[in-house]
Amino acid sequence: MYDFELDASLPAAERYRELTQMALALTEGESDPIANMANVAALIVQTVPHLNWAGFYRTTGEGDGRELVLGPFIGKPACIRIAWGAGVCGTAAASGRTHRVEDVHAFAGHIACDAASRSELVVPIVKDGVVAAVLDLDSPEPARFSIEDAAGFEALIEAISERIA
Ligand code: SME
Repeated sequence: MYDFELDASLPAAERYRELTQMALALTEGESDPIANMANVAALIVQTVPHLNWAGFYRTTGEGDGRELVLGPFIGKPACIRIAWGAGVCGTAAASGRTHRVEDVHAFAGHIACDAASRSELVVPIVKDGVVAAVLDLDSPEPARFSIEDAAGFEALIEAISERIA
């Protein structure tokens, strides 16, 4: 077991630099992406406040047959498969762009896995030019994720992408 703590008073950029270092340390020397995803989801929940779900969906299938399938996560049991282009996760995967949703009820097609979720951040994980997975974070707070949070998680994902995809 590992205990990680992030100083909430640090400016966001510094906080996410520290979180990235923690994720790099935690995944160092381990080549199994599923194991690394599991530990990174646990690390995020341990260090980032006001989340009710944190985890990964992985791309399965090819071309038009692509979809997302549930990967390691912390939170309530969730929908297992998400069609490419559906929901916040499938939209982020299909576009290859981070999606920061301040009010999930206002996002057409949002897939409600936990009724408590009010805002969401989805960051695509790119390997060899294709979206291999997404990081999905849900919060019970509206507008929980700032632009700085999105940039911080993008930097974290970029730093560890080789180890989780
Ligand atoms: N809300 C997501 C589905 C996954 S759950 O939040 C864990 C979506 O709309 O894609």
